[in-house]
Amino acid sequence: MKYFIGNWKMFGVPKSINILKKINSFQLNDKNKKKYRIVITPPLTLIEKFAAYSKTKKIFIGSQNCYHKDPFSSNTSAVSAHMIKSVGAKYTLIGHSDNRAEGDNDYILKKKVQFALKNKLKIIFCIGENKIEKKNKKTLTILKKQLTNVLEKKFNKNDIIIAYEPIWSIGTGKLPTATELRKITIQIKKILKNIYKKNTFPVLYGGSVDGNSVKIFKEIEEIDGFLIGGASKSSKKFIDIIKNYYR
Ligand code: 13P
Repeated sequence: MKYFIGNWKMFGVPKSINILKKINSFQLNDKNKKKYRIVITPPLTLIEKFAAYSKTKKIFIGSQNCYHKDPFSSNTSAVSAHMIKSVGAKYTLIGHSDNRAEGDNDYILKKKVQFALKNKLKIIFCIGENKIEKKNKKTLTILKKQLTNVLEKKFNKNDIIIAYEPIWSIGTGKLPTATELRKITIQIKKILKNIYKKNTFPVLYGGSVDGNSVKIFKEIEEIDGFLIGGASKSSKKFIDIIKNYYR
């Protein structure tokens, strides 16, 4: 199964549910609908409403992050995996480069993963190198560190999805070549196989995915889907990605 995950970041108000409704109508009539799963990660303010709407639909709702304590604490503005799960989310992103830049280190990320799994949230664990690391050919070293410092064999592998998002590609229109991306995806799967002795992880790509760039990446069968930022805030652009992927 492929994944199309829309990360809204700091976007959306209650009436933005219309975007979800349009995506739902498309999916209902799509002949390829059995081949993929749609997940939307709206801001926290919309999770409860969107999850209630999605309950009877084939769209899943996730959170963009969760706090590294659980279930409750005295940290102002923090929201735990327990609280996120309680309003109907099924997934959570963890380790997005935006949050790594704001201080999420491997220790914190491991706590987040533990608490998310404990609360039966599926995890989309984001990894990726920055521009300088890429230039210095450190990509694989960085990815390996990001994976092995946080993921442990005892974590339930069936609840973990990896999203490879090179930081230099997020919101920039800059893309890895298909050859580069295929190679990196295979390497990520190898690293995961070493941790878990099993080869079943979905690995997604994220970074400037839209209706055009998806055409380049659909040839790479090792890629199990996409984590989409900017283009997921418009139902048309998001639907175009799915349409063009299967065209
Ligand atoms: P863009 O698709 O806007 O490049 O964002 C990618 C991303 O960060 C998704 O989490």
